[in-house]
Amino acid sequence: MAKVLCVLYDDPENGYPTSYARDDLPHIAHYPGGQTLPTPQGTDFTPGHLLGSVSGELGLRAFLESRGHTLVVTSDKDGENSAFDRELPDADVVISQPFWPAYLTPERLARAANLKLAITAGIGSDHVDLDSAIEHDVTVAEVTFCNSISVAEHVAMMILSLVRNYLPSNQRVLDGGWNIADCVARSYDLEGMHVGTVAAGRIGLAVLRRLKPFDVHLHYTDRHRLPAEVEEELGLTFHPTTADMVPACDVVTVNAPLHPETEGMFNDELLATMKRGAYLINTARAKICDRDAIVRALESGQLAGYAGDVWYPQPAPADHPWRTMPHHGMTPHISGSSLSAQARYAAGTREILESWLDGTPIRPEYLIVQGGKLAGTGAHSYSVAKDRK
Ligand code: NAI
Repeated sequence: MAKVLCVLYDDPENGYPTSYARDDLPHIAHYPGGQTLPTPQGTDFTPGHLLGSVSGELGLRAFLESRGHTLVVTSDKDGENSAFDRELPDADVVISQPFWPAYLTPERLARAANLKLAITAGIGSDHVDLDSAIEHDVTVAEVTFCNSISVAEHVAMMILSLVRNYLPSNQRVLDGGWNIADCVARSYDLEGMHVGTVAAGRIGLAVLRRLKPFDVHLHYTDRHRLPAEVEEELGLTFHPTTADMVPACDVVTVNAPLHPETEGMFNDELLATMKRGAYLINTARAKICDRDAIVRALESGQLAGYAGDVWYPQPAPADHPWRTMPHHGMTPHISGSSLSAQARYAAGTREILESWLDGTPIRPEYLIVQGGKLAGTGAHSYSVAKDRK
């Protein structure tokens, strides 16, 4: 029988919800491009309910316990003697969400003698040291596409919010004020601007599609070039590297995974090549940007704004400089954890568990590492420090 250790974020401060703002979720037939939504044999949760916090349990308890397995759920993941560290040594499966990551460091993986499967209930498995997962033959799987559109919507919102100076203007209302000049002195139209995405995978391409109707000039860079008909349909300018693309852009959005090729990419040198007053939106992973270089670029005016929802570490400490830097539109890591997304990644987590417990193949598109090497989406979108591909 398997022990499944699941790390989830804390319940709301006022307790687990007893009612919700809406009664249902829209039906989504399939993802863009045709990939099917998760297909578990069943689910034991109500779509639209809070599943990603401790009491939500991703809707997994009845399913696992009915098969005789053990489910341990905790939010206590960091610091000395955390519940996660105590439970890890005999866990067969670890489930973690990127929003509240249980960092599977080389040290932890070395102590997790029974661990066979690390599931990311979401997308982005950089909280698992992939080199060590390869070394210890741990399968790493994530629920590919489950929240890609959720993030793309968030990116579109954050671009408009920064360019139009929405948050400071809203704050003025909350503060009881009405100085229009103060609100508009940093407010522009997006129309006509050059917008570029670092990576045009599921999220990046969805961002490009959402921005097209704003009559902007669209740019992208990626390891894999998009089909010519997509480039033509959206009027895309392809750049072979990020360094080639960013000097041309008024707005840059980062949509690549965090891996050795992208870590620390937006440093002082790259930021200095951007147009003065450019906006940078990073909902991918914090470590793709140099934390202090971002603060310096905002303070000097090299960047006019920075927004995103990804931090390092998570949760961000109270004194993290991104909380107080000028002209930012940061939120906690929420873009991929809407109630809509939670229903998909809870179902996808169950689908992966069913496959693993039944000994049937996990969908290739869900795989990051399997059989001691990058696999599936991992082979397409990631690299590892040691070239073991
Ligand atoms: P995807 O696998 O569909 O696309 C990733 C793309 O990045 C691929 O096209 C790949 O070729 C490209 N890429 C990889 N390395 C690159 C490099 N060095 N330069 C340029 N392009 C590169 O993944 P998807 O769904 O688009 O997600 C991307 C990332 O977004 C995730 O790995 C995760 O880190 C982040 N994410 C954040 C969420 C949030 O809540 N803020 C939620 C979901 C994902």
